[in-house]
Amino acid sequence: MDALISRIKQDGTVLGEDILKVDSFLTHQVDPVLMRQIGRAFAQRFEASGITKVVTIEASGNVPAAYVAEELGVPMIFAKKAKNVTMNDELLTAEVYSFTKKITSVVQISRKFLSAQDKVLIIDDFLANGQAALGLIDILKAAGAEIAGVGIVIEKSFQSGRSLVEDTGIPVISLARIAGFEQGQVIFREADL
Ligand code: G4P
Repeated sequence: MDALISRIKQDGTVLGEDILKVDSFLTHQVDPVLMRQIGRAFAQRFEASGITKVVTIEASGNVPAAYVAEELGVPMIFAKKAKNVTMNDELLTAEVYSFTKKITSVVQISRKFLSAQDKVLIIDDFLANGQAALGLIDILKAAGAEIAGVGIVIEKSFQSGRSLVEDTGIPVISLARIAGFEQGQVIFREADL
């Protein structure tokens, strides 16, 4: 997606070996104009797929996922990382290990929001090692829901996430694909949309 790639080139910063900082438009401050374009791109790709729910994982997945859900006209559900006092319904859970943070967290979605009649599009801001997406896939399979695809805003193609997700048979659609970083510059490969 050209607008996203231009924005990464303009405002993204490379941190160390393998991290892209995009906090001025995606992960902290949010550009709603770009988010709407992102929402439309995924919605056009999946408009004929009969999607009933968009599912993501908090925190920064919530933003693109909400725009995609609005464009598709369906609800968005975000998996929660912490249980709060109002979560007294049956929960579907999965363990997600973060290679970046070196911690395992349990993510959860209330059972009542998912059923075997659902056809789900997973959306996330980053695909790195794929653990978040795999955790969501586990939860959705436990609910008996069908998974139409995993839509990613920024894929770091040099990490293992994409192939781990594709190994489950679920297609990955990424708006920007990063081959690597060279001398602080982002090297892109051809994106899916
Ligand atoms: P995974 O999500 O693909 O399994 O990868 P990993 O465990 O490595 O990522 C852990 C967290 O770091 C995720 O956020 C992910 O979105 C984020 N992340 C991974 N690589 C990058 C990167 O290059 N840049 C930025 N900005 N973030 C990256 P999280 O901990 O689940 O949550 P949150 O930050 O959305 O709250």
